[in-house]
Order: sequence, then structure tokens, then C-alpha cells
Amino acid sequence: MAEQTCESLININFESKIFSGITPSDDAWNAYLLKIYKELPACSPAVFANHNTNLGPSSYEILAKNIELFHRPAQRLIDLGSGSGHMLKYISPQIRKNDLVTAVDMSEDEIKIAAKDYGNNSQIKFVAARAQNLPFSDESIDLIGAHMSMMLMRPIEPVVDEIYRVLKKGGRLLAVTNSTEPASGTLGLFNATILDFIKSHYPQFKQLPNGDIRTRNLDGLKELFLPRFKSVEQFTPFYLNIEVTPDGAWAFCNTLVSVNIVPQDKRSELRSRILEIANAQRQMNGKVLLQMPLALWVVEK
Ligand SMILES: C[S@@+](CC[C@H](N)C(=O)[O-])C[C@H]1O[C@@H](n2cnc3c(N)ncnc32)[C@H](O)[C@@H]1O
Repeated sequence: MAEQTCESLININFESKIFSGITPSDDAWNAYLLKIYKELPACSPAVFANHNTNLGPSSYEILAKNIELFHRPAQRLIDLGSGSGHMLKYISPQIRKNDLVTAVDMSEDEIKIAAKDYGNNSQIKFVAARAQNLPFSDESIDLIGAHMSMMLMRPIEPVVDEIYRVLKKGGRLLAVTNSTEPASGTLGLFNATILDFIKSHYPQFKQLPNGDIRTRNLDGLKELFLPRFKSVEQFTPFYLNIEVTPDGAWAFCNTLVSVNIVPQDKRSELRSRILEIANAQRQMNGKVLLQMPLALWVVEK
């Protein structure tokens, strides 16, 4: 019997499937993401705008500065997987006469927040759509920016097809994503503890749900893009330095898929374990440093 059929027959929720060792279908993954962004609106800027990277600025600023390098007047840009639109704060000052920026996200809840915050600029449009089916004509777009969204998109192949279709020749996709480099230090300890916790409660658990891992490293990007695109021009790893109190560290953990899928009645036990590590790892200033491995990458058509 096909896995998809088994899933629908069992009729249990997303989290239970993960804990039973069932790999969720793409549809189940996307439904889960939509639920998260409804429950935790604007959760990305809460993490990524409030912390700098080892390169200096925030990951939003790093992406915006790189977009600016390729941004010419009167161009068409997309903020792909825009979420609540925080990238627009950094793209707005770059907008010149006859530019048109479109924020695209599959979450209507998030795109509504973006439209509320940035909708007074007539050169920014907002569209609720999936990256697998972009509402733009062929070869109409100059630049696509994607902050912390490409690595969540499933299935990824139709997204690559759509990006290829809508970009003009010489157009670029610039993205910031997680990288496949494992987290070290305190964040590495947190991740190991969370996984041990899940495995001890759910012996059938196999792996955490995720987007397509190929969006997180150079070899994967080459496999996805090089057959048709001109080049993967750049892959620059860096870290988001999240410096927070132990309570802040637990709040951060709650934005991770690994913690988000743990039922509420078990979270207090996990919280105690995370706080124990956080307290032991505090720096002189009383805070813990969580270094999240990210990467900036650029693809040219
Ligand atoms: C981690 S959030 C990042 C939001 C925003 N770019 C930021 O950094 O503030 C990821 C966003 O990607 C969107 N997303 C994930 N898969 C998508 C898809 N297939 N098509 C369109 N949007 C998608 C989610 O709805 C979510 O808003």
C-alpha cells in the first residue's frame, strides 16, 4: 500500500505521524507550515531581525546589501516566501522610479501582515501564492530575494522550474537559508538534547520533518540549479549569533520544528533540560550564545 494511502487511513495528526516514524507527504508538510505561521505570526523577524551575524549586520541586511549590488532602476523584483514582509524594510529604500516589488507567500495570514505594514507603497504588491506556481509571466523578473524560505519549500523541483521560467536571462535568485553545517556550542547541545528527548519518548521516531536539504549546501544547489542556470555564483556560510538569557533561549527553541512538534504536556520536561544546559553555558554577561549556521547563495540564470 502506498505511503500516502496509509497516512490518510491512519488519520492521525502531523506530529503523531513523525513520532510513529512516518515521513509526512509534501501536502502534510505545507499544511503544517501554514498552521505554524497562523499560530506564530511574524516569528521570523522576532529571531532574525534582533540578532547580528558573525559578518556584522543581520541576515536580512546581508541579503538586502547583496540584492542592491544587482538592483538597477526600473526592475521587477520578488520577495519569495516573504512571510510578514520584514525584508521589505530593507528593500524599500532601494526602490527607484518604475521598480515593482512583489511579496509572495503561500501563507495568507503572513501576507496580510506584510500588506498592512508595507501596503502604503504603491510600488510594492502582495500576492498569496505558492512558489511552485508563480503568478508572473515568462522572463519578466530581474531579481528574486528569498530570506529563510527556500529551505522550507517542498517539493523544490517545481520551485526551481518556476524561478527559471519567470527570471529574465541574466536574472538572479539571492537567498539566505540554513546551511547543512551542524550547529556547535550551546545550540549543538540543545539540538542533541531535543533529539534525545524525542527518541526517549517516541522509540519509532526516525527523523525530523524538513524542506529539501539540497537548498542548504553547495553540492545540493549545483544539483538543483546547474542543469539549466548559468551558475551558482556564490555560497557564503555565516552564523546568526543569538545572544539571549536562558529564558530567551527556551523561547527561541519553541520556534524550532523539533520543539514545536513536541506535545504541550511534555514541553515542561524538555524546558527544564534546556534551561539546565542554558544556565550551565551562561557567559559572564549572564546570557548564552547560540550560533545558527546560515548561508547566503546566489544563482544566475
Ligand atoms: C521562516 S519564514 C521567512 C519569512 C520571511 N522571508 C522572513 O525572513 O521574515 C518562511 C516563509 O516561507 C513561506 N513558504 C514556505 N514554503 C512556501 C512555498 N512553497 N511557497 C510560498 N511560500 C512558502 C512560509 O509561508 C513562510 O512565510
